[in-house]
Amino acid sequence: MDKEDRKLAPSRRVYGCASARTTAQKKLPKLIFDFIDGAAGRETGLKNNQAAFDRLKLKPRVLSKATQQSLATEFLGQSYNQPFGIAPMGMCNLSHPRADYLMAQAAQRLKFPVALSSAGSSSIEDMRKWAGDNAWFQLYVTPPMDHSLSLVQRAQDAGYRNLILTVDVPKVSRRLRDIKNGFQMPFKLRTRQFIDFATHPIWSLRLLAAGTPKPVNFPQNGLGFDRDASRAMADWDFLDRLRDQWQGNLIVKGVTAPEDALRIKSMGADAVYVSNHGGRQLDSVPASIDLIRPIREAVGREYPVAFDSGVRDAEDILKALARGADFVMLGRPNLFALAADGAAGLESLYAALRYDLSVAMAQIGVETIGHIGPHNLIEETQMMTAHTDAATSAKAKGKKP
Ligand SMILES: Cc1cc2nc3c(=O)[nH]c(=O)nc-3n(C[C@H](O)[C@H](O)[C@H](O)COP(=O)(O)O)c2cc1C
Repeated sequence: MDKEDRKLAPSRRVYGCASARTTAQKKLPKLIFDFIDGAAGRETGLKNNQAAFDRLKLKPRVLSKATQQSLATEFLGQSYNQPFGIAPMGMCNLSHPRADYLMAQAAQRLKFPVALSSAGSSSIEDMRKWAGDNAWFQLYVTPPMDHSLSLVQRAQDAGYRNLILTVDVPKVSRRLRDIKNGFQMPFKLRTRQFIDFATHPIWSLRLLAAGTPKPVNFPQNGLGFDRDASRAMADWDFLDRLRDQWQGNLIVKGVTAPEDALRIKSMGADAVYVSNHGGRQLDSVPASIDLIRPIREAVGREYPVAFDSGVRDAEDILKALARGADFVMLGRPNLFALAADGAAGLESLYAALRYDLSVAMAQIGVETIGHIGPHNLIEETQMMTAHTDAATSAKAKGKKP
């Protein structure tokens, strides 16, 4: 146990996703903050993810006596203490030198899933050791194919039960903030980056002490990873092949079209993971929360559906569950909480999300995750209809609506 593990008093910097982000912005070099925070193109996809959540309303119910909330849930045959976890992200240790370890510890302690990316900064074996059965592994299929398949084998050997195949990066998008800041791995220290790092001494000294994070699951201690390489080798044939090779649960991530979801289901995948990659791939993608319902309708009520992109508080988690997701993942907020205040920041973020989720469930009159559904939402069209009905009836009575 290191100092970070013991320091679990509530953070004075992190009260939720927004404060985590604001503090992280001060603590991280701009180059690193923008790598995490940024998105594709004009970043309208990123903004729309959150705007769509804000438009959607929960339906409060009164006098329901629903006061004993349980956040426990099951996903793909495994029990978790809460219906949300950590999405796969490459190079998490850029936010904090022990990010992967601290996320794994939190997942183990609170019993929720944490996904290690192929481009993660910790080894497949270490993450499984730290997070136990809560560790999921995420695969990017990059050339050479043999290497990608060897990652699957390593995950199998290490005892992972859940494999996520990410399929929404046929080509890597341009992220304008990264281009402007000169973000590249390994870092190239020109004057601009040097000043950026020098003006964030705590982050820089920690990086110096711990060593620069690398995508260690790639050959030559990470040097064999080409961030810009096409990941289009993950096609329908590959999915077929992977289904044969992987004996655990197979989850296909980055699904946005109902027809793709249906085909993935028919090919024997165990779950689809609805995600627009946090707006990091296609700028004009629909808001992720709006993609759940059509996909749920396509795959049917019983088929497991995971979800991410744009979740920024507990009510967003509730809205995603109500739209039809079975499990919700968060990306950027985890890295911001760690950058803001290490283990305590992450702990505070999860305490806040768990508490607020149980409060919001009480407000809408539900006690268990299984009882959350579309009846807990007020859709925009319903609000417009209610407004029009009120206006029509007031007009008929000669009153102002
Ligand atoms: C810094 C960063 C790195 C990411 N790397 C990966 C990755 O390696 N594999 C993957 O499937 N998704 C990756 N994602 C996407 C996340 O899994 C997730 O879909 C997205 O962050 C969800 O949106 P949110 O950040 O708004 O919660 C990454 C996201 C971020 C912010």
